[in-house]
Amino acid sequence: MKKKTLIALITTTVVLVSALTSILVTGRKTNVNTDKSIQGLNEELSEIMYLGSLAPSSHNIQCWLIELYPEEGKLTVSADPERKLGVVDPHAREQFLSLGCYIRTLEEAFLAYGYNVTYSYDESTDTMNLSFKKISDKIDPNTIARIKKRHTDKRAFDISDSSKNEYVAKLCKNNGCEYYSFDTKEFAIIKKATTDAYIKQAYDEETAAELSNWLRLSNKETKDKKDGLSAEQLGITGIKKVFYYLFTNHENAKGKTFADQGIANTENQLNGCMGFIIVSSGDSKKELVECGIKATDIWLDLTENNISVHPMSYAIEEAEYKTQLPSENPQMLLRVGCVKKYGENNAVRRDLSDYIKVH
Ligand SMILES: Cc1cc2nc3c(=O)[nH]c(=O)nc-3n(C[C@H](O)[C@H](O)[C@H](O)COP(=O)(O)O)c2cc1C
Repeated sequence: MKKKTLIALITTTVVLVSALTSILVTGRKTNVNTDKSIQGLNEELSEIMYLGSLAPSSHNIQCWLIELYPEEGKLTVSADPERKLGVVDPHAREQFLSLGCYIRTLEEAFLAYGYNVTYSYDESTDTMNLSFKKISDKIDPNTIARIKKRHTDKRAFDISDSSKNEYVAKLCKNNGCEYYSFDTKEFAIIKKATTDAYIKQAYDEETAAELSNWLRLSNKETKDKKDGLSAEQLGITGIKKVFYYLFTNHENAKGKTFADQGIANTENQLNGCMGFIIVSSGDSKKELVECGIKATDIWLDLTENNISVHPMSYAIEEAEYKTQLPSENPQMLLRVGCVKKYGENNAVRRDLSDYIKVH
């Protein structure tokens, strides 16, 4: 073989191998390294605060601000005014629901580490005050595992499996919320309202721009920002993730092709659905926080029972579609169903020192 041909062959091989390696690396799950250390906080409390942050929040905005007094066993949780979805959530409805989700998850983390927890909402400051006291040295690994397992599952669920339908109906009845299984007329109404609301939002410039802002479009962006919606958060993994990151940027994510893909994806999700849970409440901030607490309580139970959950807020966010929903004052709409392999939380979460101040 001629020297020139050999060099060309080696160069081509090196280029191909490095391209393949980079594809494989991009397609792998992104592990975000959340820094759990904060001065003044022992390892156990840091771990508890980290587990609390695995709570759901709309667009994964992680909108909580914490003032923590470890010596006194107290902390306050309030909403970060910088972390709000101004377009789809102008009245901070979802922001306060997300705070409720955080409080319930944090409570669960304290319970796992043997603490007793009490909390009360201060309506004059829109702050939740939480007290914690260690009462046992026993750590409950099952509760910790459940917090890490809970996640939003954006895949289409297995509609051939409705074995958990009755369980969900009973759980909702016991918790004072509504459940509409796939065989009810209300299910069809919710499905249509959700599709129509999604289509409206997908083609709305401002909504698309806001979503684009919270999309994380590379492993690097996910690791740097530690919030928002990475490919995994959207249910895009493996080779699909490689192509998604290769061809999507913050500009074309505001365009028609991206909107069309989102609509097709949403229709697919809605076709793969065993039923919808509606959690309702009044509109005051206190009631919204309580509603987020209740929704998370139910979500953790569903997680334990391997029932997948996907909040779909589009119809609630759009007044004309909200009125079509079969509920007085819906705040959270959860698509639920069964899957073959449950999965776990992607744990894209911010460093604790970003939002916790220790006193
Ligand atoms: C109040 C609220 C509203 C949400 N609305 C939607 C939604 O409309 N569509 C969606 O795909 N996910 C929705 N989510 C799920 C979040 O995107 C998800 O919680 C976040 O990305 C963190 O992921 P995790 O739940 O897997 O921890 C919502 C979550 C909350 C708390």
